[in-house]
Amino acid sequence: DKAGYKHFMAKEIAEQPTVITNALDAYLTESGIALPEPGLDFRTLDRMSLVACGTAYYACMTAKYWFESLARLPVDIDVASEFRYREPPIPDRTVALFVSQSGETADTLAALRFCKGKAASVAAVVNVTESSIARESDLVLPIHAGTEIGVASTKAFTCQLVVLLILALKAAQDRGHLSDADLAERLVALRALPGLMNHALATEEPASALSRKLSEARDVLFLGRGAMYPLALEGALKMKEISYIHAEAYASGELKHGPIALIDEHVPVIVMAPRDALFDKTVSNMHEVMARGGRILLVSDQRGVADAGDGVWESLVLPEVDPFLAPILYALPAQLLAYHTAVAKGTDVDQPRNLAKSVTVE
Ligand code: F6R
Repeated sequence: DKAGYKHFMAKEIAEQPTVITNALDAYLTESGIALPEPGLDFRTLDRMSLVACGTAYYACMTAKYWFESLARLPVDIDVASEFRYREPPIPDRTVALFVSQSGETADTLAALRFCKGKAASVAAVVNVTESSIARESDLVLPIHAGTEIGVASTKAFTCQLVVLLILALKAAQDRGHLSDADLAERLVALRALPGLMNHALATEEPASALSRKLSEARDVLFLGRGAMYPLALEGALKMKEISYIHAEAYASGELKHGPIALIDEHVPVIVMAPRDALFDKTVSNMHEVMARGGRILLVSDQRGVADAGDGVWESLVLPEVDPFLAPILYALPAQLLAYHTAVAKGTDVDQPRNLAKSVTVE
């Protein structure tokens, strides 16, 4: 039931403040973080290995930034189809973590089976808790997104991010890198996220107007730095899978190492950049694009848009957010831009060509 929305994807985008609240309620207590049994003790770990496919892989890539910066825990990330055939060594003080909405993705399941008996523990971040991946894991971490029907993953992605972030905070606490007071402050910020998401959803009108312009493009580029780089990749994936517009993403700093050759007035460049510590670097990347006639669509906050100055083609303004939460909040405009671009093009949003919701073949 689409509950009055035109597509399941639109409904699922709009549900995010609610399902994120559910995920927070499941993991946060009055005083801290509670994981489902048997839990995870990060003090005994040296390394994490995060494995997934598609959008879930981009959630892992974002989580790497969190685990490494907050918990000082080294993280390897892999797409499952590469991981399983590479047969990587798994040191015994490693936790292997598999992220999958459906819990049935064949490559992810095969990678999990490869790790069993080698890793200290095998954990799964899943939406479907009665799935194969959940059944075969030592620890199941549900994301509480509710049923996701649209083939393009939206609310499952942000719920995966929230669960992974909570895990990174738990790791930081266990490993002595986060005081109780600092943890409490982060949890207050997390609790405010659904409210910020409501504000982000209020950009739907301008996002839809911009999308009409994007729908005329043949190619679109996405740029991001730091933890916004995986989000740029996710934005490009969403754009190509439902609108069929060719979309690529690059780490902003990589632009001058090749991709800048693609820039001309026909290629919109979507920059996901909150006004954070890396913002000035991103502004110089935007100038490189603009100097070559490129059109920048800047997704930022009020200060970011002001500091970017003149010359930006279009902008979309989000509320200010704690930098560590930005990849979660900025997922919403990425989804809205892809959705409305697809609607403007008249494609089958919920059931894009050649794609299946659950990929149970290799
Ligand atoms: C993209 C998308 C896919 C899935 C991927 C993994 O919107 O939905 O890229 O993320 O097929 O699926 P799960 O998470 O079910 O393992």
